[in-house]
Amino acid sequence: LSIVVPYRNREEHLAQFIPFMEEILLNAKEYTAEIVIVEQTDDKPFNRAKLLNIGYAESKDSDYFCFHDVDMLPLNPDYSPVEAPTHLAAEVEQFNWGLAYEGYFGGVTMFDKESFEKINGYANEYWGWGAEDDDVLSRCLIMGIGVFRKPGRYRSLAHGRAIDNELYNKNLQKLHNFKVKPSPESIMRDGLSTLKY
Ligand code: UDP
Ligand code: BGC
Repeated sequence: LSIVVPYRNREEHLAQFIPFMEEILLNAKEYTAEIVIVEQTDDKPFNRAKLLNIGYAESKDSDYFCFHDVDMLPLNPDYSPVEAPTHLAAEVEQFNWGLAYEGYFGGVTMFDKESFEKINGYANEYWGWGAEDDDVLSRCLIMGIGVFRKPGRYRSLAHGRAIDNELYNKNLQKLHNFKVKPSPESIMRDGLSTLKY
């Protein structure tokens, strides 16, 4: 298992996340795991999805992947192997111990290698906060891949949030365009196949 964590400038979270996860992963019997922190070092808007693609590209020897926010600490962890895209962040403290909304697919999401390749990973062109996780769910549905959810319970680490509305609106527009005209071709235009870093 590769646990891929998108990261920039959240030292306090990382300092809690790493020992918390190590304790869980070192005691796991069904799998071996590595944690891959993918740090964005430039000053451009944060790009969670692209960092996740990079983490995947850098750990291709793994059999399956967990894309994991640094501010989510699992209380009933189950990172055992999956054979399909599986959403884990279902009972999240910051969402009143529930989902952000019914189709929420962000926070902590696992993928088998075959499915992730088939959807061409995440889209690289979501800059700033929002919508990249909705996009990856749409990719699965468009490619006919069934998704699952495991009832993961997660403590949330507090942080400030300054959403750039202009970027967020662009992200919503991109997601909208993608969903209006869904096609495998549009998936291939932005993703693992076009990843540069
Ligand atoms: N993140 C980060 N630095 C940032 C923004 C985001 O490291 O400046 C990473 C971090 O792993 C975080 C995840 O991206 O948990 C999701 O961002 P955020 O927590 O801001 O979104 P939320 O889930 O709270 O809406
Ligand atoms: C955003 C997602 C985010 C979710 C929960 C949605 O509006 O598009 O990216 O994960 O809210 O915060």
